[in-house]
Parts: sequence; C-alpha cells; structure tokens
Amino acid sequence: MTERDRLDRAQIDLGDMDEQDFRRAAGQVADRVADYLAHVERYRVVPDIEPGDVRARIPAAPPEEPEPWDAILADYATLIEPNITHWQHPGYMAYFCSTAPGPGVLGEWLAAGLNSNVMFWRNAPASTELEEVVVAWLRQMLGLPEAFDGMFTDTASVSSLLSIVAARHVVPGLDARERGLAGRDDIGPLRMYLSDEAHSSIEKAAIVAGVGRAGVRRIPTDDAFRMRPDALAEAVAEDRAQGFTPFCVVATLGTTSSTSVDPAGPIADVCERERLWLHIDAAYAGAAALLPERRGLFEGWERADSIVVNPHKWLMTPFDASLLLFRRPEVYRDALSLVPEYLRTNVRGQVHDFHEYGIQLGRRFRALKLWIMIRYFGVEGFRRRLRESIRHADTLAGWVEAEPGWRLVAPHPFSTLCIRHEPDGLDAEATDAHNARILETVNRDGRIFLSHTKLRGRYVIRVTFGNPRCTMRHVELCWHLLRDAANA
Ligand SMILES: Cc1ncc(COP(=O)(O)O)c(C=O)c1O
Repeated sequence: MTERDRLDRAQIDLGDMDEQDFRRAAGQVADRVADYLAHVERYRVVPDIEPGDVRARIPAAPPEEPEPWDAILADYATLIEPNITHWQHPGYMAYFCSTAPGPGVLGEWLAAGLNSNVMFWRNAPASTELEEVVVAWLRQMLGLPEAFDGMFTDTASVSSLLSIVAARHVVPGLDARERGLAGRDDIGPLRMYLSDEAHSSIEKAAIVAGVGRAGVRRIPTDDAFRMRPDALAEAVAEDRAQGFTPFCVVATLGTTSSTSVDPAGPIADVCERERLWLHIDAAYAGAAALLPERRGLFEGWERADSIVVNPHKWLMTPFDASLLLFRRPEVYRDALSLVPEYLRTNVRGQVHDFHEYGIQLGRRFRALKLWIMIRYFGVEGFRRRLRESIRHADTLAGWVEAEPGWRLVAPHPFSTLCIRHEPDGLDAEATDAHNARILETVNRDGRIFLSHTKLRGRYVIRVTFGNPRCTMRHVELCWHLLRDAANA
C-alpha cells in the first residue's frame, strides 16, 4: 500500500488496523497472555459470580463509533479474564483437563494471522499438506498402522458423528445418502451398540444420523465398567432375530466417568464375525498410547474401522483439535462429498480435499499448532508429561487407599480417579449427599476445581490430572482440601 493509499484509507476509516497500532497492540497482548500464564493462580479456578453478572456489565447494544484499543483491552482485563473458569489453572482437575501450553498458544496465534481456511488444496496448499503430515505423525506416535488415514475435526462429537455416518453408508441396500431414511419399510430399523458407560456424544450422533435413540442399544459393563463382549454378541444375535439391522459398535477406551477400557480385541472379533463397523472412542485416553508401558490397554484398537483421539484433551493441545483416523477414507468421501462447480479444482484426487470427507466446507488450520508443539516438546517430551500426570494420579490414589473411610471406586488405568468418602453409619443415600457436600466445599475454596459423576447409581468425586503446570504441590493441596472437607 502506498503512503497515499494509507492516508486515504485512514481518513475515511476504511481498511484494517494500522500496522504500527497492530504491532503495539500485539505486544500488549503477548505480555498480557504471558502474565496470565505466569500468574494464573492468583485467580480462583472458578470465578465467584452468578449467572448474568458479566452480561450486566456489557452494553446491550454495539458501539456505533470506533472505541480506542486501550479501552477494549482494559475491559478484557477487568471483565473477561477474571470471570472465566480457568482451564489453564493447575488446580483445574475437573471433567478432563484441556490446557494450552506456550508453543500451542503461539501456534494458534500464527494460524490466526494466516487465517488459512483448509477446505481444499487450492485454497490451502501448505495447510492441507501439513495436516496430512501431522495426522501421519500422530498415527505413528499412537503406534497405529499405516493403513490409517485421517484428518482433524473440531471435537470428538463430530469425529464420531462422521464415523457413524460412514458406518451407515456401508449398510448393504440402505443408501441413506440418496434415499434418506424417512418412510422406508424395505429395511429393518438400524441398531448400533455402545456400553452403558459410553459418552453422550455417541447417542447424539445416532440422533443426527437418523438412527434415533431407539436405534442405540447400551451393552452392560463388567465390574470394572468395561463393555461385556459376550453381552454384545448376544444382543446382536437377538436383534438380528427380531428384524433389526445391526451396523456399528462403538467401543470406548477411557470412558468419561471412570476411564474404563472396553476390551477392543474381543469386541473387534464380534464386529468381524458380524460384519459391523467398529468405531473407537479414545477421546481422552488415546494419548496414553504414546506410552509403550500403557499400549497393552489399547490392544485390538488397530483392528477398528475408525478411531477418535482428542489432542485437546490429554495431549495438551489448545482447544480445538480432534484427530479422526479411518481405514477407508473413500467411505467418508462417498458418504459425504458434494463438489459443485464452484469448488472444482484441477488437482482433485492428488491430495486430500478435506471438505469432501466431512460436513464442513470451511475448516480451521489445526495442524500448525500441533506441528509446532510436537517439534518443540518432541514425542519424548509428551511422554514425560503424560507420565507425570499418571504419577500424580497414582500418588493421590495411594493416599486415598491408605486413609480409613476413603475408597477408590474404580480402577485408574490413566490419570483420573473416582473416589468416595464412606464414613461408618451412613446409608448409601446419605453417603451420596455427604460426598456432594465434600465436592461443594472443595470447590468453594477456589484453589482446586473437581467434578463428579455417578457409577452404578452412586455419587462419586472425580479427580483428573493432565495440566503440565500441575505439580505435586497441587496434588497435596487437593488431598488436604478433600480430607478437611470430609472431616468438617
Ligand atoms: C470418552 C469421550 N468421548 C467424547 C467426548 C466428547 O468430546 P468433545 O467435547 O471433543 O466432543 C468426551 C468428552 O469428555 C469423552 O470423554
């Protein structure tokens, strides 16, 4: 842009932020984020606010005229930053951790600057090819065979949905892509199988894919909350006899409540025998496959048709990044590709035009942050951090087991514990209420944030590790707060 152009545009308020202003503001933002990460513990993990408090402090109508950058950043500092739940806080031990380490944040910044929309190669050549490379890197890190191709989506919910649609696409005689599902009486109702501990996103996928909740059969789990392959085989046989069309099994390696691991090998046997698509949901725990000493837990997953692992969970990648791996990319493409004239290019087929394999046309450039992080930490760096989370969980588990009244309610193969305090003289209901009070007391303190679940109908406290900023000091604080709350 010439000086003349610059002055013209500045005068009539057109164009982008001025370059010098941008440089100054970018420096302020970099400092702000560095300070935030260095001092995140000055905040409570969960802010002490009520619904509507933030909204009440923001004008209901947008500003008609430009506001100064400094005023905007100042409002960010007072209104937004202190009033979020701090996922970056080392005391965040609820649900599953999702943290953004420095190199990942920098990767997000670079991707934001490029604003590359990874629809197809012509529109995003380096971004498309980097996605191909990083998907292959992650596949190797997970110890999976070359037969798996893949791509990134935003979330495990979407990765699983695409896989259910792909599984539906190969049901003989169904042709849901062209004919739809409504009003059909030429094929029995579809049926898919998941354990009674599988994530709600799978059932949502069934809703969206036209399978419906009635088409979802939950298979009972064993004492360790793992799907029972014998019960799966019986359910499939029973459904076939009753005219259903079984088409897909979803095994979860690392369930959301207890992180139990469905036996992938025996489930793959059933799927092969019955010609059912096997989708593996390893959204959280898949990261542990980087560790040779944990890989046994995943045995058999290499036989799946599709697998989802979320780097934005335990692989410490900034939200969002979900890795979807599949053996037969052509099935996803046949099920979902529509290429109108305005999206046609003359290199189709030579590289992945990723929009053809999913629902979205526009896609974020997620590979960049992962490429940067994998290079910056090295695979061994990821392994060290994963082992540290496991060490935190194992240490806390040891303290829980050694303390009278406290109990580990489920095995803990990864970095997540389900625990419960069971004092003498309380029945099950009263014990549930007692544990809910413990959780509330710990969370009210503000330094640690835990969540809960129910296992076999009983309330349990969940503690999960995975934030690389978490140290043994935080594990000790968590245990100290739990014990104090239980004794209060
Ligand atoms: C096992 C499992 N699957 C799927 C999901 C959904 O993940 P997302 O938020 O990426 O859709 C979760 C979320 O915690 C999960 O634990």
